[in-house]
Amino acid sequence: MTYTKGLEGIVAAETKVGHVDGGKGQLIYRGHWAKDLAIHYTFEEVAYLIWHDSLPNSKELAELKERMKKERKLPSYILTIMDNLPQNTESMSVLRTCISALGDSSYSWPPTIDQAIKLTSITPTIIAYWFRKQNGLDYIAPNENLDHVANYMYMITGEVPTQNSVKSLSAYFVLTIEHGMNASTFSSRVVSSTESDMVSAICASIGAMKGPLHGGAPSGVIDMLEEIGSEDNIEPWVREKLENGQKIMGFGHRVYKTHDPRAEALKVVSEQIAGSDNWFKLILQIEEVTLKLLREYKPGREIYTNVEYFAAAVMKSINLPADLFTPTFTASRIVGWTAHVLEQSADNRIYRPESHYTGLIPEAVK
Ligand code: ACO
Repeated sequence: MTYTKGLEGIVAAETKVGHVDGGKGQLIYRGHWAKDLAIHYTFEEVAYLIWHDSLPNSKELAELKERMKKERKLPSYILTIMDNLPQNTESMSVLRTCISALGDSSYSWPPTIDQAIKLTSITPTIIAYWFRKQNGLDYIAPNENLDHVANYMYMITGEVPTQNSVKSLSAYFVLTIEHGMNASTFSSRVVSSTESDMVSAICASIGAMKGPLHGGAPSGVIDMLEEIGSEDNIEPWVREKLENGQKIMGFGHRVYKTHDPRAEALKVVSEQIAGSDNWFKLILQIEEVTLKLLREYKPGREIYTNVEYFAAAVMKSINLPADLFTPTFTASRIVGWTAHVLEQSADNRIYRPESHYTGLIPEAVK
């Protein structure tokens, strides 16, 4: 039997949902390039693709949107739960608690697309409710006239977002909707393999996503942009970090050893939207200088711009508060999790790896 710490290099499932090829810089969702989907399709269209294995026609899309709008509303007992939680509870913990509380008998095994739609639809409402409550603001109910991503922004700010902001956040949602056998996706597949319900599987995923090694947030990149501040400070700032052996946020990736396709797609969308905005110009200049200095200080290491770098550009352009970065990532990734749960249940075998015992062996009984 082989043992690899962290299961690195071990294939744990067969999947048609998505594929990451870090060497080639490719990300595929159900036979489509993720970066093309992010530029040309909406969140609902890509969610449909991820669940059904085909893009929707106009009737199917309209039905999905209608269904999602219906499922956004918070039942009164969920409001009661949130109103009774300690004010300092982290949003990811609130989300895990509320999703768990939704798990009545309608969620029992086997999992269904209908359950996936319900959980995906209600997630932004829980996040927005808690965000506003923690900030002493009144709850803003979902807006029937807005699609999923626009409505999420509306429930946070109380204002109907501009088309550009929606386009930008939608691209982020699409590019983070699925990413192969990462820790949170694997968690939901393991729970589902016991024939437990979809809600339990998604709670496990939220728990995994909450960990700082997984639900990474672009806050570090935003802090860096603010610290650098101006063009003439870029090179001295980056050089100083590299001289001191520090990492530059938003560069490098464990899997992608070439261009991260998600970073490339978010850059295209950000360029279309931000154009010649000063802060975006600075972002591009920092990227250029950092890549040049990384080649100088870390030759041959294949370090490129990662998704967090341009996610920071998106978050900054729409003024999304840092507290909402990981919950927002969760609001998109729940589509990938639920699709993996459905796939696992369709051809199930309970996960049961072995462990290598390194403890003491008691003396043999005489
Ligand atoms: N800045 C400077 N040097 C770097 C960077 C970076 N961002 N990334 C890697 N390196 C260097 C390391 O110092 C190391 O150099 P050495 O060989 O001289 O010791 C070499 O490249 C290999 O680095 P590792 O950390 O072993 O590479 P790994 O693939 O394990 O790390 C990681 C990937 C953790 C993402 C790393 O690149 C990093 O810390 N980046 C900055 C943080 C960041 O942007 N995180 C978000 C990632 S995207 C996501 O998680 C969704």
